[in-house]
Amino acid sequence: MARRKLIAGNWKMNGSSAALSELDIIAAAAKAAPGLDVALCVPFTLIASAKARVPALIIGAQDVHARTYGAHTGCISATMLLEAGATAVIVGHSERRAEQFESDAAVRAKVEAALSVGLTTILCVGESEAERDAGNHLITVQSQLDGSLPDEASGLLVVAYEPIWAIGTGKTASTEDVAAMHRAIRKRLVGRFGAAGDAVRILYGGSVKSDNAAELFGVEDVDGALVGGASLTAAAFVPVIEAAAG
Ligand code: PGA
Repeated sequence: MARRKLIAGNWKMNGSSAALSELDIIAAAAKAAPGLDVALCVPFTLIASAKARVPALIIGAQDVHARTYGAHTGCISATMLLEAGATAVIVGHSERRAEQFESDAAVRAKVEAALSVGLTTILCVGESEAERDAGNHLITVQSQLDGSLPDEASGLLVVAYEPIWAIGTGKTASTEDVAAMHRAIRKRLVGRFGAAGDAVRILYGGSVKSDNAAELFGVEDVDGALVGGASLTAAAFVPVIEAAAG
């Protein structure tokens, strides 16, 4: 099935108002590639100004609370994200699973909350280096999916496979390993959601940059990328967008 590619940048805890000038060139590159979606997930504080600056670009957040409102100091709800101008959100990134101790069940609740208000929801999964070395990578990711997928798939659901050992390290999984994992994820999605599982986009993430993007996008069932470091500047991110555009 032909799926529209999504290239999503993840600024993590980086960026400032001054850095938003990078978005002008990224938005121009996105406009020149109408066959794919380009999103930038920026810190909460930059969402509104990013959206105001480049309205045509998909602006996303990097986390969301499972509840709509209430006594949750420091947290942001899905409706608040929408009001700020976000139309996408990353959920369950490995850095949050590790640093904020997010469980699969907590991630699942966030996914449901984000989908319920219409946010494009990028659910992250991925194994550690020890899990891969032990040969447990497929089982780890399957169990993350089983614990964190929502009840129903919609076109808004996106899965990002990000091997933890490849994030920010300059290491990338081999195309064979990426193909095997994406195939396994697709099988799980179709098993769970039927035809709707075939429409869910599966992104690869982990040190994606200009020199490996084209090869990764050539792999079956790789429907785009979640890009950290190389999304911080237009100079690094635009070539990734261009590689996806073909
Ligand atoms: P990286 O980060 O591209 O810097 O490896 C990817 C991510 O964590 O989403």
